[in-house]
Amino acid sequence: MSDNNRIIIFDTTLRDGEQSPGCAMNLEEKLRMARLLDELGVDVIEAGFPIASPGDFEAVYEISKAMKTAAVCGLARAIKADIEAAGNAIKPATDQGRGRIHTFISTSPLHMKHKLQMSPEAVLEKVEESVKFARSFTDDVEWSAEDASRTEDDFLCRTVEAAIKAGATTINIPDTVGYAVPEEYGAKIAMLMDRVPNIDQAVLSTHCHNDLGLAVANSLAGVQAGARQIECTVNGIGERAGNAALEEIVMAMRTRPDMLPYTNKIDTQRIIKTSRNLSAITGFNVQPNKAIVGANAFAHASGIHQDGMLKNVQTYEIMTPESVGLKESTLVMAKHSGRHAFRTKLEELGFELDDNALAEVFARFKILADKKKEIFEDDLIALVEDEVIRHNERVQFVSLQTQSGTVGPQVADMVLCVDGAEQQARVEGNGAVDAIFKAVRAIYPHPDARLKQYQVHGITGGTDAQAEVSVRLEENGRTVNGQGADSDTLMASARAYVNALNKLLIRREKQVDAQVRHAGP
Ligand code: KIV
Ligand code: ZN
Repeated sequence: MSDNNRIIIFDTTLRDGEQSPGCAMNLEEKLRMARLLDELGVDVIEAGFPIASPGDFEAVYEISKAMKTAAVCGLARAIKADIEAAGNAIKPATDQGRGRIHTFISTSPLHMKHKLQMSPEAVLEKVEESVKFARSFTDDVEWSAEDASRTEDDFLCRTVEAAIKAGATTINIPDTVGYAVPEEYGAKIAMLMDRVPNIDQAVLSTHCHNDLGLAVANSLAGVQAGARQIECTVNGIGERAGNAALEEIVMAMRTRPDMLPYTNKIDTQRIIKTSRNLSAITGFNVQPNKAIVGANAFAHASGIHQDGMLKNVQTYEIMTPESVGLKESTLVMAKHSGRHAFRTKLEELGFELDDNALAEVFARFKILADKKKEIFEDDLIALVEDEVIRHNERVQFVSLQTQSGTVGPQVADMVLCVDGAEQQARVEGNGAVDAIFKAVRAIYPHPDARLKQYQVHGITGGTDAQAEVSVRLEENGRTVNGQGADSDTLMASARAYVNALNKLLIRREKQVDAQVRHAGP
């Protein structure tokens, strides 16, 4: 296989992924994810949109300092201030020859007319100007034609040629609204390979959204037509229906080299770990039937399948669980398990915790083990995820007493720690859960937020099962998801609501982000 078949994996979990409702991350969380992505072997990490907020700038800057092998990229509109911010944020990586600026402008008639209110000629000028300016910060410049899949071929060819002439080394062809179908998207890439005279001086890249569930298929069609970079996210997170899922793309290439003879640098055995840590950090779980990383992806429940599997695993298994880092393990932790075994077990499950976090999870494990007869792996995963998502929260859950029943008022007596100071509220409600949520609001008012969803499910079977609660809040069009787990459903509800509130606080900082992203040029 020649080097011509090497695919650059450009991960945008921390930029496009983080833009999606419920996936906001703080600086420490972004850094943790970036390290995991670096270890996973992605070639480029798009770490954020530096002009969008001071938090985004800082995250890109810190990630630029911390990455060991991956290139670090900052997003910028075709605006000088954006490009300057991106150039400054990636400086530590640029100094090591690994800093990229990704600048974009819309090229479709619809976007140029209604979003940018600019003529095609004016857009073309901006393309040249922005790429040239970006090149004054780094030699590694990526240019994107936003809404490329709905752009007229002739104009797309002109902009791509101009961007390469101005110094772009990667040309990205986004299917921004997830409208394309594979044959069409592949044809677009082939058309550019064929018609743009200087196309050999740049790498063509795919960036596909999943609105029709075709993001991965479109990306692979793009590669088959000549693209050599794929932009994707872990667990497929991203705006609306998300982006192409990294794990699906990588495992498709690995499982079907006959049809997809391409190489990449991903250590597939780290996929589960990266996926789980992202879910834990964002509180955004993947659906059980999600390809590669869903809880059922390697479960063979039906009798026929199990029988076939016992005779020959290949009857129903096209890739092994080990190849994505799922370790077979039946060890169930018991009440008397020690801290060392506990740590080993968590490592096996893909979690690495610092000593403080480990101590907290271990303490909660002991309490759970007292209440619950058997502790399953899913119990441990829920405990860790609950602990990880709470790490560094501005508002921390401390304690809760509730009074409920058919007679008398339902009351929640709650203590939260807000920015390091404990505060208490005793509030009556229309039911215990209502009282709990009102108590959080009494301690930390957020009158514009509306509760959009409240869901409870049992993690394992039995009446002593842990409950996992998810809470969705919406404030001025921004949606956040909070999660909480506990053997007591009311406690899990309080934790989930407090987690959602913390996510809201991060989202507020990022308000500028959304405005900036959807403004021109
Ligand atoms: O979807 C899109 O068009 C984008 C661009 C900024 C590359 O995310
Ligand atoms: Zn996108």
